[in-house]
Amino acid sequence: MRACVLLFSGLMAAGAGMTAVGCSGGEQEIKSIKIGVTVYDQYDTFVAQLMTEFDRYAAIKEEETGVAVNVEVYNAADSQSTQNGQVESMIEEGCNVICVNLVDRTDPTTIIDMAEKSNVPIIFFNRELVEEDLERWEHLYYVGAEAFESGIMEGELAAEAFAEDASLDKNGDGVFQYVVLEGEAGHQDAIVRTEYSVSTIVQNGVEVEKLGYAIANWNRAQAQTKMAQLLSEYGDAIELVLANNDDMALGAIDALKAADIPREEWPAVVGIDGTDVGLEAVKNGEMIGTVYNDKEGQALAMLELAYGLSTGGDLSDLELLEGKYIRLPYSKVTADVVDDYIKNSDAEE
Ligand code: BGC
Repeated sequence: MRACVLLFSGLMAAGAGMTAVGCSGGEQEIKSIKIGVTVYDQYDTFVAQLMTEFDRYAAIKEEETGVAVNVEVYNAADSQSTQNGQVESMIEEGCNVICVNLVDRTDPTTIIDMAEKSNVPIIFFNRELVEEDLERWEHLYYVGAEAFESGIMEGELAAEAFAEDASLDKNGDGVFQYVVLEGEAGHQDAIVRTEYSVSTIVQNGVEVEKLGYAIANWNRAQAQTKMAQLLSEYGDAIELVLANNDDMALGAIDALKAADIPREEWPAVVGIDGTDVGLEAVKNGEMIGTVYNDKEGQALAMLELAYGLSTGGDLSDLELLEGKYIRLPYSKVTADVVDDYIKNSDAEE
């Protein structure tokens, strides 16, 4: 099947990466589209896996429609000015739409101004800009999730584990002593996950005591270092590690292993994401659970939106909230259900 759509939008007409040939009745046949992507850090485990899914869905789309879906991915390597330059080049190269995983979610102005001037829509993803910025132009979108939901689920996982396994209350005082490993300061997911995970444990009737916290920037190696420090300070008193993502939960586990702490004395460790390595750690019991951050759903939503915008297609199936947002739900993953998630990713390969 080939896409044969009406050239009704200025956005489409501006797309130099698109080949248009005549069709009957003034319609144009789209033969190819070009989607530009820039990620804040290509070595971020979750973002890397999200991009793998995005490429996979782009290939499926190409197969289904006969339209060549060209995807170009750039790494901003944690520099907002590098990312601004990449967006500028992608616009010059004629990308029909650009997907931006902002380095600094508070600083999208340059990108928005360039996009509006050149009439190229932008799909921001994973690192959420404030609503006022997203409203600055009609062709700005956001694909991600609702951060508070992941915090609530992480808190529920911890509270359920405490209620079910008395051995987690190592000192038997009826209080869950915890430490938090936080993502980047200022990232919407870090702030909100920490707040909601703790308040949910309390709402579920479990008394908590915060021993300490550390910022580990989503990063496994940094989390290992920070957890080693927390262990030297609080040692055996730590009963729970609430990590804002799986990579940091795994860094905490690396620290427990490096300190030769016997497995039965480990605190409960809980994460968020359900990355491949995270799911593996839930399966082998090193983590009590994780919260699935639906990278497949987010990647598919981004691809469908990018395709629709590039071809002037109908966006109504995408059910955009306020005409701009797509948010995929999270889900809880414990050892009982982890195989469904591992199987899912195997089945889709
Ligand atoms: C993920 C983290 C990731 C971060 C990057 C979060 O939604 O849970 O694993 O590092 O996004 O922006």
